[in-house]
Amino acid sequence: MSHPLQRAASLALAYPWTTTPLIISAPMRVMAGPALAVAVSSAGGLGFLGPNTKTDNMASDLEEASALLSTLRSTPNIALPPSTTSTTLPIGIGFQLWSDSLLTALKLIKQHKPTATWLFAPANGQKDLDVWTRAIRETQPETKIWIQIGTVSEAESLIAASSEKPDVIVIQGSEAGGHGRASDGMGLMALLPEIVDIVSPSGIPVVAAGGIADGRGASAALCLGASGVVLGTRFLASTEARINPGYQAEVVRARDGATSTTRTLLYNHLRGTYGWPQEYSPRGVVNRSWTEFCAGRPFDELKSEHDRALGEGEKGWGVEGRLATYAGAAVGLVRGVKGAGEIVEEVREEVGRLLGSSV
Ligand SMILES: Cc1cc2nc3c(=O)[nH]c(=O)nc-3n(C[C@H](O)[C@H](O)[C@H](O)COP(=O)(O)O)c2cc1C
Repeated sequence: MSHPLQRAASLALAYPWTTTPLIISAPMRVMAGPALAVAVSSAGGLGFLGPNTKTDNMASDLEEASALLSTLRSTPNIALPPSTTSTTLPIGIGFQLWSDSLLTALKLIKQHKPTATWLFAPANGQKDLDVWTRAIRETQPETKIWIQIGTVSEAESLIAASSEKPDVIVIQGSEAGGHGRASDGMGLMALLPEIVDIVSPSGIPVVAAGGIADGRGASAALCLGASGVVLGTRFLASTEARINPGYQAEVVRARDGATSTTRTLLYNHLRGTYGWPQEYSPRGVVNRSWTEFCAGRPFDELKSEHDRALGEGEKGWGVEGRLATYAGAAVGLVRGVKGAGEIVEEVREEVGRLLGSSV
């Protein structure tokens, strides 16, 4: 069996500006905007833009990211490749398949050539993943296809003979913040190696997501068979995240994810978000909306309180707040706000200290 960093090195090679191990920022809806994605890629990681409120709205995010990248490319000492050696944009872009428009996505991918697309949450399982994968490859063959899954059976469908194979499989453990498997989710410690064993013969690299907030979690995931690691919640507490300061302060304050976070559709419904495929539900930090819901307060009253809190700015978040605070089970390991580039470097250095050299 090869050293974890040796395995990880081959994935990083596919994204020539990156450093081993590949540190990836998750495509968090709205909150992972151009500044975050570009900062992560500039630090030798791979930053993903999150989906936006509408697929059309991702056009301005891609334009802003392209502009930021061209400014950086002309700055000395930045790892990004000069445009002459890279035909794709060195960031990725995420789509939620159940709600995003494939036609609009294809238009954006053709125009901006992101290095990777991250597909998640299809309404019709593997069938939708095949349609999107095929269409993206036909439109822009250089854009790599990443697919995020959370169960062994999804992994089996992905590598079945009849499926369109992704370039990378993201294994999302139930620790993850935001949406993940509702009732059949499992922690990465058990889920990741079981899927690695299934996927390995196909040669498709897997990366790990869920509960990874520092170099310790990253090293563990690499030892379990991942070739790269995804951090979401940790980047919510970055200076580049597109997040309300009240939300960000709550991510920094919250600890003990076992008691301070839960998976529930309550916050989706308070926000008026319906239609997610039934396999998914989001993890977030609990507050008064949740405690009063558990105590039996009627939904209509909770909704009125929630909507009032929307007008209260930063005070809408926190223990006494009522607004959705999607974040993962490792929220207790996020103890301050830092630059995204600094986070990438810190995690990478800690992995280096823990796992040593690959040779
Ligand atoms: C606020 C938030 C929003 C998210 N939005 C998306 C999304 O739109 N699409 C997606 O594929 N994953 C989304 N995720 C999940 C991430 O892709 C990833 O699985 C997760 O952040 C990893 O776990 P962690 O938060 O513990 O690091 C989101 C996560 C968070 C915290």
